[in-house]
Amino acid sequence: MASTPTASLPVLGSRDRRCRGWSLDNRLRRWWAPARDEADLLSVRAGQSVADLGAGVGFLTREFLERVGPSGRVLLVDPDARNLSVARARWGGDPRVQTVVASAAAVPFIADRSVDRVALSLVLCCMVDKAGAMDEAWRILRPDGLVLVSYPERRRWTSVPTRSLRVTPELWQRLLVRHSWEVISTERRRFIRRHLLRKPLNVE
Ligand SMILES: C[S@@+](CC[C@H](N)C(=O)[O-])C[C@H]1O[C@@H](n2cnc3c(N)ncnc32)[C@H](O)[C@@H]1O
Repeated sequence: MASTPTASLPVLGSRDRRCRGWSLDNRLRRWWAPARDEADLLSVRAGQSVADLGAGVGFLTREFLERVGPSGRVLLVDPDARNLSVARARWGGDPRVQTVVASAAAVPFIADRSVDRVALSLVLCCMVDKAGAMDEAWRILRPDGLVLVSYPERRRWTSVPTRSLRVTPELWQRLLVRHSWEVISTERRRFIRRHLLRKPLNVE
């Protein structure tokens, strides 16, 4: 799926949002938005390769590993080396896991059409180059592959620095039409909007 990157890649941009590790994996979040819900929605299956772009501290990793089984692979990408080091401490000993410090908008170390599933969980709302992330998700997904994109919907529940990064319905429509995504489902649970998109079989 991915080779070890050699070139220096862009890391956390000055306007991208840094998240504290403790806010990403704690008892409240596990109760309020369990990782299994995301993994179930993404229908991760045995033997698959999953790219978790903006993986943070690896909140979803256990669920992905359980589902991909012994022959699957999970790639964790995040520009915040501090968060990713937490993920690496937890999962780095597992040969199925690879971690790379990079932006979701530039993952040239992942080959075209090489992954089965992509997660962009609560990430577009933290980064400036949202179109870049959606373009990379499209490029690296195999035809028939799925991407799960989630972001908080309500402006008043987000902090001031995050507001400028908000994914509005209009912006989402603009991101969606950049490629020929098939929309499998879109739902709102609590205040999180989740879109499940498929890359159709018959595309270049
Ligand atoms: C709210 S956290 C979500 C983390 C993880 N996906 C989860 O569900 O727990 C947002 C993450 O996006 C990362 N992030 C910020 N800018 C990014 C970028 N340009 N590319 C990828 N991830 C980015 C942050 O470092 C942070 O780990």
